[in-house]
Amino acid sequence: MPGAHIVLGVSGGIAAYKAVLLLRLLRERGHDVRVVPTAGALEFVGKATWEALSGHPVHTSVFEGAAEVEHVMLGRSADLLVVAPATADLLSRAATGRADDLLTATLLTVTCPVLMAPAMHTEMWQHPATVANVATLRARGVHVMDPDSGRLTGQDSGPGRLPEPEALEAAALALLARAEGVAAEPKPAPDLAGRRIVISAGGTREPLDPVRFLGNRSSGRQGVAIAAAAAQRGADVELVAANLAVPAPPGVRVTGVETTAQLRDAVRRAARGADVVVMAAAVADFRPATAPGVKIKKVAGRPPAPIELVENPDILAELVADPPDARTLVVGFAAETGDETGSVLEHGRAKARRKGASLLAVNEVGPAVGFGDVANQVTVLDANGEIVGEASGTKDDVAHGLLDLIASRLGGVGGA
Ligand code: CTP
Repeated sequence: MPGAHIVLGVSGGIAAYKAVLLLRLLRERGHDVRVVPTAGALEFVGKATWEALSGHPVHTSVFEGAAEVEHVMLGRSADLLVVAPATADLLSRAATGRADDLLTATLLTVTCPVLMAPAMHTEMWQHPATVANVATLRARGVHVMDPDSGRLTGQDSGPGRLPEPEALEAAALALLARAEGVAAEPKPAPDLAGRRIVISAGGTREPLDPVRFLGNRSSGRQGVAIAAAAAQRGADVELVAANLAVPAPPGVRVTGVETTAQLRDAVRRAARGADVVVMAAAVADFRPATAPGVKIKKVAGRPPAPIELVENPDILAELVADPPDARTLVVGFAAETGDETGSVLEHGRAKARRKGASLLAVNEVGPAVGFGDVANQVTVLDANGEIVGEASGTKDDVAHGLLDLIASRLGGVGGA
């Protein structure tokens, strides 16, 4: 992607001289580079060098170039922001969101990928404050390179050296290429715009006492993938999340629940006025009859008391029999294993007829597919147990395959 707009932030370390070479390399590749040094960086390499090699005026403060509100202009136009070297002070200011010079203010306005190449003495790199700042920045999606190990400013040596300009250039170009690839990916059609979709995901937990519960292995990945895909396709999504092992996707409303009773209440409340309810959660069929408010203690020499279980309501079957909204399309999941009484499909067909959901996505669980794993394969049945579709691949592929079927059943556009 020649001709990319790159902001090169330079903070005040002796390694600033390597940023001069990085600037040259990026310019030779045909990129437009705006250099934003900190005041400290100018102690090492002067303004004239940056201006001559970048071909742009160079400022360190938001008060210079104020007429064009430079930090906002740079932030909006940048395809990549690289900070090299990133000193301990710069990492600290970036991690806390300070905006006390043009570089840190620009860091708060960019939406493009950000690459930081730290350089400092080993003691500073390994100080818990710097370690915590790097962790904060990485958690926010900033690409913080590890420094090289080797000779530092004086006689000392260790981790803290700025990587060579060619390595910085390679990291910068790789990020640019990745950003370009993401931007080029086709966006799914907004065929669910105007639709309200409720999705339950995860696995319910039934308390045995204040510290223990009966649960299951559902990670919630498939339900979360459906929620993310539905949001991408324009739906208004509410995710009823039961003990997810993965983060909820952006752009959806989340109601957290723990038990089957809470899941039932949340789903029924959200289902009012919904176009679709997808029950992807693994719901506990039984719960302990009693859950004492104090921890169950073991008593030496006495066998454990048996746990009496009572049946939980079947939320999916209830949604079909007594829907909060008669027009809502109800979709269930069935995780099955084949056994001597029938195959996965036979068990799925029986369940489809028993539950009566508009669609039932049947998947085989086993060592290679289903729970927790990234790949999945589902056969979709209607309420008569007839096969109406199939989807396989990653959980995102399965999510889109299932939403294709849902969209075709909804028909029309935008809740019409
Ligand atoms: N389900 C539900 N309420 C329950 C149990 C299950 O709403 N108490 C829903 C699940 O969210 C899923 C579908 O029913 O969409 C099938 O779940 P599954 O556990 O496969 O079925 P069960 O009815 O529990 O049957 P079994 O465990 O006996 O196979």
